[in-house]
Amino acid sequence: MSTIQKQIATLRDEIDRHNYCYYVLDDPQISDTEYDVLMRQLQQLEKANPQLVTADSPTQRVGAPPLEKFGTVSHRVPMLSLENAMNEEEFLAFHERTKKTLEAADEIIYVAEPKLDGLAVELVYEDGLFSKGSTRGDGFTGEDITQNLRTVRSIPLRLGQHQTDTGQSVPVPSILEVRGEVFMEKKGFRHLNAARLKEDQAPFANPRNAAAGSLRQLDSSITAKRPLKFFCYEVGHLEGPDLASHWDTLKVLRSWGLPVNPNIALCSGSEESVSYYRRWEEKRDTLPYEIDGIVIKVNDFTQRTNLGVRSRSPRWAVAGKFKAQQATTVVENIEASVGRTGAVTPVAILAPVNVGGVTVSRATLHNQDEIDRKDVRIGDTVLIQRAGDVIPEVVKIIPEKRSADARKYTLPGKCPVCDGTVHRPQGEAVARCQNVTCPAQVKGRIKHFVSKRAMDIDGLGAKLIDQMVDAGLIASFADLYYLQQEELANLERMAQKSAENIMYAIDASRETTSARFLYGLGIRNVGEHLANVLARQFRTVDTLTAATAEELETVEEVGPIVADSIVTFFASEDNCRVIDRCRAGGIVLQEPEATEDRLAGQTFVFTGSMERLSRQEAQETVSKLGGKSAGSVSKKTSFVVSGTGTGNKLKKARELGVAVLTEEEFLELIE
Ligand code: IVH
Repeated sequence: MSTIQKQIATLRDEIDRHNYCYYVLDDPQISDTEYDVLMRQLQQLEKANPQLVTADSPTQRVGAPPLEKFGTVSHRVPMLSLENAMNEEEFLAFHERTKKTLEAADEIIYVAEPKLDGLAVELVYEDGLFSKGSTRGDGFTGEDITQNLRTVRSIPLRLGQHQTDTGQSVPVPSILEVRGEVFMEKKGFRHLNAARLKEDQAPFANPRNAAAGSLRQLDSSITAKRPLKFFCYEVGHLEGPDLASHWDTLKVLRSWGLPVNPNIALCSGSEESVSYYRRWEEKRDTLPYEIDGIVIKVNDFTQRTNLGVRSRSPRWAVAGKFKAQQATTVVENIEASVGRTGAVTPVAILAPVNVGGVTVSRATLHNQDEIDRKDVRIGDTVLIQRAGDVIPEVVKIIPEKRSADARKYTLPGKCPVCDGTVHRPQGEAVARCQNVTCPAQVKGRIKHFVSKRAMDIDGLGAKLIDQMVDAGLIASFADLYYLQQEELANLERMAQKSAENIMYAIDASRETTSARFLYGLGIRNVGEHLANVLARQFRTVDTLTAATAEELETVEEVGPIVADSIVTFFASEDNCRVIDRCRAGGIVLQEPEATEDRLAGQTFVFTGSMERLSRQEAQETVSKLGGKSAGSVSKKTSFVVSGTGTGNKLKKARELGVAVLTEEEFLELIE
């Protein structure tokens, strides 16, 4: 073996070992960054030596050229389904039947497993190498989705020989046909749907559909980008070690590098099985993926053979289904509800219905786009779904049940709580109430206003703010500056001394910078950094208040979305009134220091990278000298400062006849 070959082999082994630690043992040994470094080293070596690339290399997971259609694969051993037990009685009936057939003197030992809600697949390994992967299909013949399954990172491309938890090491078999579930975790599903909505693609209804849709791609490079995972749970065919039980089999599969759900358990008899069932029904929401029940399987393979199979399902296993988390009901009304951040969310008021043991009478419709996309109308019959602590949501309407008088709904243009303006920025799904005194938002607004990086009022914690608002002492952050110490001291659990300290902290905050105040106003999209930039450019809150979107957009970091949020914020009379009230309450805003005004009236545009100072430093210097920086070149630009590697801005400057400075010339100018 050449040195390069050895290097490649060592890197592959190392990466495989880390995959094993990560996906099988759930115990990563290195950080993601370190892992990426190993991957990149391997990629580089393989790029330089393409003849050394093999199909089982960990780099080979990016997808293959798209297929015209999937081929078919026949399963050597049919892929059966499971009989369902809808409740504990049905499970107990299964247990009694099993006991009777086996005439067993001892308790029957079961393996209990979470029932994942994904897609069943079969993987074939020949001499340890992943050679074919297929869907279940009709149980006898499935679709060949090998290319797609290769992109699922928790599916090993080659089996390894690791130790079992009892220290055994079992040689890799010559043939293994293993079954398991490909699924998508809830978090990955949420991210995927958010990205799809952004790109105007219809979101998937649930993680199961998302997993199925991702596996059915003819272009496996799309599958490669989907956050799919895999757990194995049965063997179809094995030419390898003799295994006597399911539990031992799962341990051995795991030692070969195949991920097995860590929440499996051995249960003796019905009582332990039922308690596993109850435990997971209660804890299902704590798992990162969705499960729709548990599976109880006879552990001993001789007992399995004695029990046998029916045409579609084995007699040695049963699926214990959980109560459905979905139900249908009628939308009696739709209301707009205002959240802490001012987001105005449409809520369906439902005819109360029991969903998985909880009575549900409200479900979120998320936003106007979602109402339109799902075409939900007042009077419609809808499918709703709840998952754990998440607010129940409307999944879809049942079109056949629509009555003639079903009414369309549009979110109001005024806030239902304070009657303030509701604004939905272009390109955003969420509409928000703009009024800083809106009772629905006021507590959150005040908490932000007093926070460390804003007005920094020490001692005014979240609980105290709640208490002050609830007691009617303050209805906006401006009211803080009119507070009397006695009022504060009269609050429950408030000592005279604390009240005094708070009054002192409020007073100290009267003298602050425009940037802090601006940040404290909580204008959407204006964080601390942007507040600083805006304060430097516009100097006073008044000039900022009067600025048009066009003027705002001359600031390098301000695009149309930010400009729109600023203009909308100051267009609200309520907001302007609160700002005036702050001033009348004694707030004095220091403008950012401008030591000189040598560059007053001059606008600079920076392009390319400079050697001696960063763009931010350059802009800060311009601002200190009384000048302004802009992001794009226009007739109003005084100078374009051109570093290295520049393009369009320079071209534009030449077209408009704007003066162009080199970095050196700029430095001379400011020195
Ligand atoms: S065993 C003969 N174990 O449930 C036994 N199935 O309703 C075949 N499933 O098609 C399956 N988790 O897609 C088994 N731990 C688990 C499972 C599981 C989910 C799915 C699988 C199967 C369906 C049967």
